[in-house]
Amino acid sequence: MVDENQTEIHVGLEGVYIAESQISKVDGQAGKLYYRGYTIESLAQNSNFEEVSYLLLYGRLPKKQELQAFVNELRSYRNVPEELQNLIKGLLGKAHPTDIMRTAMSALAAFDGELDDSSPEANLRRSIRIIARTACIAATIGRFSHGKPYVKPDNNLDHASNFLYMLNGKRADPDIEKLMNLMFMLHAEHSSNASTFTTMVAASTLADIYSAVTAGVSALKGPLHGGADEAALKMLRAIGSPQNTEAYINDALENKQKIMGFGHRVYKTYDPRARILKAYLEKQVRANAPEDVKNLAQIALEAEKIMVERLGETKGIWPNVDFFAAPLYAWAEIPEDLFTPIFAASRSLGWCAHVLEYWQNNKLFRPLEKYTGKLDLPYIPIDKR
Ligand code: SDX
Repeated sequence: MVDENQTEIHVGLEGVYIAESQISKVDGQAGKLYYRGYTIESLAQNSNFEEVSYLLLYGRLPKKQELQAFVNELRSYRNVPEELQNLIKGLLGKAHPTDIMRTAMSALAAFDGELDDSSPEANLRRSIRIIARTACIAATIGRFSHGKPYVKPDNNLDHASNFLYMLNGKRADPDIEKLMNLMFMLHAEHSSNASTFTTMVAASTLADIYSAVTAGVSALKGPLHGGADEAALKMLRAIGSPQNTEAYINDALENKQKIMGFGHRVYKTYDPRARILKAYLEKQVRANAPEDVKNLAQIALEAEKIMVERLGETKGIWPNVDFFAAPLYAWAEIPEDLFTPIFAASRSLGWCAHVLEYWQNNKLFRPLEKYTGKLDLPYIPIDKR
């Protein structure tokens, strides 16, 4: 047994390794991210979310026929069952879209069709269904939230383009479809982040994968994690103009407020995903966006410059994936309360990949707490307290 008085406490498990994995490597010092050994830059340049889904689930890039078979399976699961549509409708206006997403993801278990089969093959099929359906659920939540009717999936479209089609009821601009593919790829996986770790903890009890991903979306919602992009957009809107940026940031920092979209537990340099999104923002938004979005982009670039100067080298606080996602989603006309459901839809891939990998050598997560309270207190009857 461990001697509590000798042991070191790792609050928030900072710096603690909880498992070995071959899914992704996050190099916080070098600012590099690898999915199954491929740099995120090479995948962002050459791949798409469906191929990255195969890569993360199966551990290698697919051959042409393998990808076609996988894509056909993924696309075959897109339809949102009517009962789920009604569940979503019943929560509209009463719950944040992320809470509706969490509820709908939990309800997916009811449409599984093979719940008594917990074999690795069944759990892989389950994962593919979850990855396909969560994007369509997010689109349907967005659509219903704006009073529009359900749009059936178009299986001629890839994952990201179909998401936009089900959200908008029409094809999106090719540059926006390309951006959405990039967003789904960049948000898909990031080793043992808070939400992935949460899914692993739930899965380690041998709960089913629906329970695990529902726990994951619950953890993702927080503004310190997946809720940061929605918070970052609210901040950009509150700043209002590039000229106001420095005063806003100075005031926030003086009041010990966190600037959303900056800082990271692992990256102590620029988040490579933020670099990719910043380049996309500078290339696309400056050229093609409406004036209000161009203004948001300018504020974001000004805020980045100030934050990097003020807290980059000195405190290791740099832009993370959420910061530039905010103005880019605004350019794609994605409602801000849908940012986290989209993040959850993308990250359901990483959650499932880690659960499937961890189950290969499962060990219940049960850390210790150092008790610092009193012991052996005498029980005092209530009329004598
Ligand atoms: C994601 O883990 C992952 O991989 C996550 C993710 C993924 O893909 O899964 O990358 C996605 O969640 C990105 C992070 C999104 N969250 C935000 O942008 C919220 C703002 N960021 C911070 O809350 C913070 O940076 C965290 C939570 C991300 C990391 O915090 P840590 O590692 O627990 O560090 P900390 O909060 O203890 O901060 C250390 C110091 C503190 O100052 P001091 O008290 O030492 O003086 O840095 C300061 C903090 O105040 N600080 C910030 C800051 N982030 C940290 N100050 C101002 N603005 C910030 N954003």
